[in-house]
Amino acid sequence: MRHIRLAELLDQPEKFETVTVKGWVRTFRANRFIALNDGSTSENLQCVVDFENTDEKILRKINTGAALEISGKLVESAGKGQSLEIVVATIQIVGEADPDFYPIQPKKHSFEFLREKAHLRARTATFSAVMRIRSVLSFAIHQFFQDKGFCYVHTPIITGSNAEGAGEMFRVSVLDPKNPPIDTDGKVDFKQDFFGKETNLTVSGQLEAETYAQGLGNVYTFGPTFRAENSNTSRHLAEFWMIEPEMAFCELEDNMDLSEEFIKYALKYILEKCDKDLSFLDQRLANDEKKKPKNQRSPMGLLEKINFVVYNEFKRITYTEAIDILKNSKPNKKKKFDYVVEEWGADLQSEHERYLVEKHFDAPVILYDYPAKIKAFYMRMNEDQKTVRAMDILFPGIGEIVGGSQREERIEVLERRIAELGIDKEDLWWYLDLRRFGSTPHSGFGLGFERLVLFATGMSNIRDVIPFPRTPQNASF
Ligand code: 4AD
Ligand code: MG
Repeated sequence: MRHIRLAELLDQPEKFETVTVKGWVRTFRANRFIALNDGSTSENLQCVVDFENTDEKILRKINTGAALEISGKLVESAGKGQSLEIVVATIQIVGEADPDFYPIQPKKHSFEFLREKAHLRARTATFSAVMRIRSVLSFAIHQFFQDKGFCYVHTPIITGSNAEGAGEMFRVSVLDPKNPPIDTDGKVDFKQDFFGKETNLTVSGQLEAETYAQGLGNVYTFGPTFRAENSNTSRHLAEFWMIEPEMAFCELEDNMDLSEEFIKYALKYILEKCDKDLSFLDQRLANDEKKKPKNQRSPMGLLEKINFVVYNEFKRITYTEAIDILKNSKPNKKKKFDYVVEEWGADLQSEHERYLVEKHFDAPVILYDYPAKIKAFYMRMNEDQKTVRAMDILFPGIGEIVGGSQREERIEVLERRIAELGIDKEDLWWYLDLRRFGSTPHSGFGLGFERLVLFATGMSNIRDVIPFPRTPQNASF
C-alpha cells in the first residue's frame, strides 16, 4: 500500500479507501484513539485501535512521540473534532519513545521550555505550523523576484571588507587564539591567517549585490547574515536571514514601491497557500488573548492583521515629518517616552517607531530622508546636504522590518562621505570603481526574514521562528 502523507489524504479523502500512514503519536486516549501527525499539516489524523485484538506489548508502546506505521480503512468519524478516521488494521511501532524520558508531553509547554528542546519542538503543533509557513514564505520571495526577472546572486558569507558598518562582526580565523602571530606593531598578524587578511562573517550582502546589479540590472540575495551585537531582545538574532534586492537605474520612490509590493505579495501568498496553518495560529493567539485583561488585548487577530497589511497602503512620511509628529505627541509632551524627542537629528528609538505605527498611523509606515549622521556612508545625499535617501519600513508589533536606500552614485560625494566618516578607502576600492565606470542611480533594501516570519505567524519572540536561534550566550544544537 502506498504511504500517503496526511496533507494529501485530508485534502482529498474521497480518493482513498485503505491507506498506509506514517507519523508520530501526539496523543493516545483510552487505549483506543491515536492522534497521529506526520508534519505535513497542522491537522492530526485519528486512528482507532481495536484494543481487544491488539497485542498488549504493542499497545504499551503507543506513547506520545513514538513513530508508527498504520494501515487501515478510512471512514467518516462518528466522534466530534474530526471528520475522518482510520480503522486500524495493522500497526507497526517504527520507533519507540519512552514516556519516562520523552520531554514533549500532550499539554501546553512554554516556548521557553521548548527552546531548550529545540531538536524536538518541530513535533509540536505550533512549531511545525511556523516552520511550514517559513518555508512557503521563502519560496514566495523567490517567486516574486524570479517573476520580475531578478537574478538570484549568492553573495559571500565570509567577507574581507568590514566597511558596511551595519553591526559588530564575528571574526573568521584559523590562528591559534592562545598564541597568535604578532606583527612589528604588536598587533595580531592576520597576514599569517587563512586568507592573508582579517576576515569576518558578513553583516549584509549589499555591497557585493551592488556590483552585480551594475551588470545584471536587477538582482537579489537571500542568505544568512551575522551580527555580533549584544542585543538580547525578542527582535534580534546573531544569525538571521536577509533578502536584499538591488536595482540599477532605480531611485528611492521605485525602491519604496517595490518593497511594499514585495511584502504584500509574500503575505498574500501565504494567505492563499497556508490557510490551515494560519487559521491554527490565529486560533491559538485568540485563545491566548482571551486570557489577558480586556484593555491589553490586541484589537486585531492574526489573519485580520495580515489582511490589513495586504490590502492597505503603507503610509509614507519623511523623518522630518515624523519628528514633528513625535514632538507634538502626548507621550512626548508628558515625558512618557524614555527618550524625549527634542531635536531634529536624533535617532528614533523603538518606542518612537511604535508610537508612529501603532498609535498615530495604525498602519505600516515607510520613513524616508533620514539625517545623514545616523545612516550609512553609502546612502545618497539629498540637496539639503543634511539628509540622505534612506528608507525604513516600520511594522506594527515588529518595529523595523526593512532598511534600504538609494545609493550614492557620484564618486566625489561618496569619497567625501567616506573621508568624513574615517572609513578606510583602500577596503572599498572595488566599490568605488562601480562609481568610476558606468555608474547609475541605484537602490535596494534589506528585509529581515525572521521579522517577516514573526509578523506572519503572530509569534512574539524571534527565537521561535528560526529552527535553531543564535543569540548571545546561546548556540546550542
Ligand atoms: O537595516 P539593516 O542593518 O540594513 C542593511 O543591512 C542594509 N545593508 C540592507 C540593504 O539596504 N541592502 O538590516 C536590514 C533588516 C532590518 O530592517 C531588520 O529587518 C533585519 O535586517 N535585521 C535583523 N533581524 C534580526 N536580527 C538582527 N540582529 C537584525 N538586524 C537587522
Ligand atoms: Mg536598519
